[in-house]
Amino acid sequence: MRIEVPVTSLLRLLRKRIGDFPYPHQIAGLLDNPLRRALENPSASVDAIGLTGGESVVEIGPGPGFFSVEIARRLTTGRLVLFDIQPEMLDKARRKLDGAGYRNVDFHAGSADAELPFADAQFDAAFLAEVIGEVPDKDACLRSLARIVKPGGVLVFHESFPDPDRLNLTELRALAEPHGFELAIARGSRWKDVVVFRKPVAAQEKRRL
Ligand SMILES: C[S@@+](CC[C@H](N)C(=O)[O-])C[C@H]1O[C@@H](n2cnc3c(N)ncnc32)[C@H](O)[C@@H]1O
Repeated sequence: MRIEVPVTSLLRLLRKRIGDFPYPHQIAGLLDNPLRRALENPSASVDAIGLTGGESVVEIGPGPGFFSVEIARRLTTGRLVLFDIQPEMLDKARRKLDGAGYRNVDFHAGSADAELPFADAQFDAAFLAEVIGEVPDKDACLRSLARIVKPGGVLVFHESFPDPDRLNLTELRALAEPHGFELAIARGSRWKDVVVFRKPVAAQEKRRL
C-alpha cells in the first residue's frame, strides 16, 4: 500500500493536468503483487460473476491479468476474451495466462469507447476492474457493452482503493441504468465495490423460453 499511494497521487495529478490516459503499462507490476492479492481477494471478486463454466466472458482493461487467471480458471468449457487499449498489457496478460496453462483466451487491442469489435449478444458476462474511470467516453462504452452482453447476462464492475478514478455505486448506476442494465448485486466496503448489473430478458424473449 505504501508503494501504491504515492503512485495514485501522481496519477491523479497528471490526470488533472493532461486529462484521461490509461494506467501506464510500464508500471503494470504494481497491479499484480501479493499485497493487492491479500487485500482484494480476486477470487472472491470473480465469484460475483456467477460463472458455471461454459460461459463466454469479455474482460475489458485486464491489464497484466490480475483477475483474468481467476476468470479463465472457472471457464472449464467456456471462453474468455481480453480487450485492452494497450497491446503491452495484453502481452503481459498472455504471458501470465500461458504460464498458468490457460489456452481458452483470445486477445484484442482497442479502445472500449469505440464500437467494441464483437457481435451483438456475444457474451454472457462483461467484467471491468478499475477501468471505467479511465475511459474518456463512458457512455459510448456502456452503449457498446449493452449491445454485446446477452439478455439475461451480467455486467460486473470492480472498483477499489487506491484507484485514483474509482467510481462509486451511484456513479455506476448513473452510467449503466440508462442503457437498460438493472442493478442485481452491490457489495461495498471502503476498500472495494463489486457491482453486478443484469441485462433483462425482454418480455417477448421470456415467452419464447
Ligand atoms: C488500472 S488498470 C486495471 C487493470 C486490471 N483490470 C486490474 O485491475 O489489475 C486499467 C486498465 O484498463 C485499460 N484501459 C484504459 N482505458 C481503456 C480503454 N479506453 N479501452 C480499453 N482498455 C482501457 C488500461 O490499459 C489498463 O490495462
